[in-house]
Amino acid sequence: MPEFATQPVAPMAITFDPAAATLTPSGPTLTRRMSDLEGLFADTEAWREAAEGENPIVYEVVSSPVPEADRELPQSITTIHPGQVSGEFWMTKGHQHPNHQGEIYLGIEGVGGLLLFDGEQRRYLDMAPGVIGYIPPGWAHRSINTSDQPYSFLAVYPGSAGHDYGWVLEHGMGHRVISADDGHALIDFSPTGAR
Ligand SMILES: [Fe+2]
Repeated sequence: MPEFATQPVAPMAITFDPAAATLTPSGPTLTRRMSDLEGLFADTEAWREAAEGENPIVYEVVSSPVPEADRELPQSITTIHPGQVSGEFWMTKGHQHPNHQGEIYLGIEGVGGLLLFDGEQRRYLDMAPGVIGYIPPGWAHRSINTSDQPYSFLAVYPGSAGHDYGWVLEHGMGHRVISADDGHALIDFSPTGAR
C-alpha cells in the first residue's frame, strides 16, 4: 500500500438502483429549495414569489459514502423536479471546480440538459437515460430539467475538485434554458438577470 497524506477509504460495494435513484449505503443528502437559488432565474420577482410562498424543493443530491477527499472518486445522484420560473426551467445552481478536474454525468431517469461554460465558449448537451455527459476540466456546469417529469443523473467526480458556486453567479452560464413550443430553447444568459 502506498503512503498517502490522507488514508483512503476501504473498498466497498455500493448498490445503485436506477429506478429509485438511490445509492446504498448512502452518505449525506443535499436538498435545494427555491429559496436557496437566489440570483439564478432571470425573473427575480417570480423567483421571490415562489421562494417566499410555497418554497418547493427544486432538486436533491444523494451522495455515496465515499468522501470528497483527495484521490477519492465520490458519486452522487441528483434529481431535479419538474418546474419553471416564468418559463425558465428549474435547474441546479451550477458550479466551477476550483481545482480544475473533469467529471462525468450519466443520465438515469427522465430528460434534461447539461450546460457547460468556460467563460467564453458555451455548450449544451441533451441528456437522457444512458447518455454520459463529459465535463472537461475548466468548464462550469449546470443541469436543467427540460420536461414535466423528474430528471435524475449520476455524477462521478474527483474528491478534491470542490464546488465554486460564486463563479457562476459572477460569470453566468452562457445560456438560459426556457420552454418553447417544441420543448426547450436556449437564450443568451445575462448574470445581471435581464432577459
Ligand atoms: Fe462538478
